[in-house]
Amino acid sequence: MSWTRITARPRGSIRERLTRLILLIEILAISGSLRAASTNSALVEALAANAPADCRFVIYGGLGRLPIFNPDDEGERTPREASDLIDAVTHADGIIVSCPEYAHGVPGGMKNALDWLVSRDAAVGKPAMLVHGSPRSLYARAALAEIMRTMSFALYEETTLEIALLGKKPVEAEEILAEAANSLAMRNAVRAFAGFIRGR
Ligand SMILES: Cc1cc2nc3c(=O)[nH]c(=O)nc-3n(C[C@H](O)[C@H](O)[C@H](O)COP(=O)(O)O)c2cc1C
Repeated sequence: MSWTRITARPRGSIRERLTRLILLIEILAISGSLRAASTNSALVEALAANAPADCRFVIYGGLGRLPIFNPDDEGERTPREASDLIDAVTHADGIIVSCPEYAHGVPGGMKNALDWLVSRDAAVGKPAMLVHGSPRSLYARAALAEIMRTMSFALYEETTLEIALLGKKPVEAEEILAEAANSLAMRNAVRAFAGFIRGR
């Protein structure tokens, strides 16, 4: 089976698009790491804390509870955890993903979550941005971008946010994320992404 990219049209009715222009943008943020001391999770939380006033963040916490994707379990058999993820993506105006690299690839938990979204409408045309907590992980970045474009996410790639947290302990990561330059970089990145969402 081959997947094709679908060119996204403006999402929603004129009323929905006007509502997005006026109201808060809701962003679903996903960390691809399950580690308790995850630097990617710290980055996602810092993004939420530094969000511009017109953005509201919801942090997805269900990655570790998702059953392993099985196409036989779609439709009426869709597990509740997967339905919750699909609903969260559907409801959000955009999603932000911060994900580590494992063995030059995308960690299984993150790929599993994306697999649950492949045959649904939730991802089609949904604005998405990748942010990075490691200056390495170039394979995972490229793979995630390719996967998400193939799923027809509207990947926002004009702005790149990378904050070097690789190998940092939680206290160290917190200090780095609290630096004024990094707070500003996070706010600017989210503001640019929100502008992309509003412009669609
Ligand atoms: C099993 C495993 C494999 C890894 N493989 C790579 C890799 O191939 N390339 C890389 O840049 N980092 C690799 N790393 C390092 C992680 O991507 C890096 O530590 C990341 O920042 C961890 O994110 P976290 O703090 O959110 O858990 C690996 C780490 C683990 C645990």
